[in-house]
Amino acid sequence: MFLLDYFELTNPLISIITGLSFFVIFNYLVSQVNRLVRLPNGPWGYPIVGYLPFIKDDIYLVFDRLAKKYGPVFSLKLGKHDTVVICDWEHLKVAFADEALLARPHENFYAGLIDESSFIEMSGDPWREHRRLSIQILRDVGFGKSTMETLITREIDQFLPTIEGEKIDFTKKITPSVSNIISCFLFGQNFEYSDPYKIELDEQMEKLGQVFEFTGIQAFLPWLTRILSYFKVANLEQIKRAINDSDNLVQEKIDERMKSYSPSTEIVDYIDGYLQEKEKRKAKGDHIFNFKILKRNVTEFFGAGSETVATTLSWTMNYLVHFPEYQEKIRSEISEIIGYDRKPNYTDRNQMPFTMAFLYETQRIGSVIASNLLRRASRDTKIGQYTIPKDTLVIFNLWSIHREEKLWPDPERFDPNRFLTDNGTKAFKPPYLVPFSSGKRNCLGEGLANVELFLYIVSILQRYRIKSEKIDHNLCSQSVLGVARRPKYLPKLTFKRLQH
Ligand code: HEM
Repeated sequence: MFLLDYFELTNPLISIITGLSFFVIFNYLVSQVNRLVRLPNGPWGYPIVGYLPFIKDDIYLVFDRLAKKYGPVFSLKLGKHDTVVICDWEHLKVAFADEALLARPHENFYAGLIDESSFIEMSGDPWREHRRLSIQILRDVGFGKSTMETLITREIDQFLPTIEGEKIDFTKKITPSVSNIISCFLFGQNFEYSDPYKIELDEQMEKLGQVFEFTGIQAFLPWLTRILSYFKVANLEQIKRAINDSDNLVQEKIDERMKSYSPSTEIVDYIDGYLQEKEKRKAKGDHIFNFKILKRNVTEFFGAGSETVATTLSWTMNYLVHFPEYQEKIRSEISEIIGYDRKPNYTDRNQMPFTMAFLYETQRIGSVIASNLLRRASRDTKIGQYTIPKDTLVIFNLWSIHREEKLWPDPERFDPNRFLTDNGTKAFKPPYLVPFSSGKRNCLGEGLANVELFLYIVSILQRYRIKSEKIDHNLCSQSVLGVARRPKYLPKLTFKRLQH
C-alpha cells in the first residue's frame, strides 16, 4: 500500500529510476543466489560490474589470492559473466581434458572495439574447421618439418650481429627477429630489419602487446568498452587503433597476393593456402572461410607467434644475467656437444639436459600467458565436485599452477635443477609445466616456439657472454602485464664476443 502511494505521488522520472533500481537489485540478487546454488564458492561483487572494482593488482595475482581464501576452484562475477577460475593442477588436468570447456566466450577478445573474429576466438565447428585447416596449411609450407629449423637458423644468423656490443635493448632487437619467422609462414617471406612495412607492423603489435590484456575490461563489460572507446578513453582507443592499423597492414599483403593468386599453383604461405581452401568451399556453397576471417587470422597469428616467444626470450636473458653461473653451465654443454664451429640443431637438446632445464624453469617462473585465454563452458559440466553451468566463463590460472607449493617446492626461487633427474644427466618435463596450456585447444605454435627458444638461446650463448652493469636481485622477478607477462626491469645488456 505504501509503495503504491509512493509511486503515485512522485513524478514519473523518479518512478522510472526507482523501478529500474529495483529491477537491477532484484536481478543482482537472483544472479547471486543462482551463483551460490549452482557455482563454486567465491567472493561477492557489485551489481552490473561484479568483482571488477576489487581487481587492483595483476589479475592472475588476485585470482591466486582468492584461491587461497575460497579454494582452488572458485567463482566470481566479472561484469555480466559468471566466471569460474581454476588454480590447481588436480582440477586443471581434468579441465584440460573436458570437451565442454573448449569454447571461447561468445564475444571476441576485443569486444566493443572490433566486431570481426579470428579462429582463436571461435567456438564449435567453425573453430575446429579453422584450426584443422590452419595446421594443415602451416604443415604444407614447412611447419614442424626440417625446413622450419633451416628457416629459424637463417633468421638467427641475421639476428646475432645486431646484438653485439654494449647497452643493448634486447626486447627491441628480438621482436623483429622472432616475428620474421612467423612472417615466413604467413607471408612467404622474411624481411630486412629496415623494411618500413615490417617496422610498422612490429610497432603496432608492440603497442598492442603493451596495452591489451586478454582479461581486460573489454572481456567482461563490452557495452562500457563501446562507450569509453567512443569517447576515446586512453587505453581502449590505443588498442582499437593498434588492431585496425595491424589489420590494414595485413590486408595490404592479402591484396598483393590476390593479384598473383592462382588456385592451381603449389601454396607458398598461409594466405595462399587459405585462399585456395576458401575458393574450393565456395564452389560447394560453403562460406565458412572468408576474407575478414583470413585478415584477422593472419594478424592474430603474427601477434601470437611473436610476442610470446620474444617475451620468453627476454625472461631467459633476465635470468642469464642474474645467474651468470647458469650461462657457464649451458656453455659447457655447448662446448661438449656442439663445439664452436657448427651451428646448433634441435636434436642437440637431447644431450643438453641443463640447457633444457633452464628453459623449462624460465617458462615456469615467467608464465607469460598467466591466466590463459578465456574459455567458456559449452554445456553444463563438472570438474571434481564443482559444477560449471553452460555459458560460464572459465579461466585456467596457469600462473598458480606454476607456483603450486606441493608441485614446486620454494616456487619463487629460480632453480633449473628442479627439472633434472638421474644426477643431473636428464631433463624431465612434468605434465604440470603448462606454459602452452594443454588438451585439444592448446597453443597451436608450441612446436615452433620450442625450437625457436632452444636455437636462439644456444646460438646466443655459443657466440656471446652476456652481462649487465645494473643488476638488482630484488627486481629480478618483477613483471608487467600486457598481452604477455613481461620482465619489468630487464636491464640494458652487453653481448661480448667469446674468444676461442
Ligand atoms: C613461448 C611461446 C608461446 C606461449 C607461451 C604460448 C601460449 C599459448 C597459450 C597459453 C594459448 C592458449 C591456449 C588455450 O586456450 O588453452 C595459446 C594459444 C595459441 N597460440 Fe600460442 N604460445 C606461444 C607461441 C605461439 C606461436 C609461436 C604461435 C604461432 C604459430 C602461437 C599460436 C597460437 C594460436 C593460434 C593459439 C590459439 C589456439 C586455438 O584457439 O585453437 N603461439 N598460446
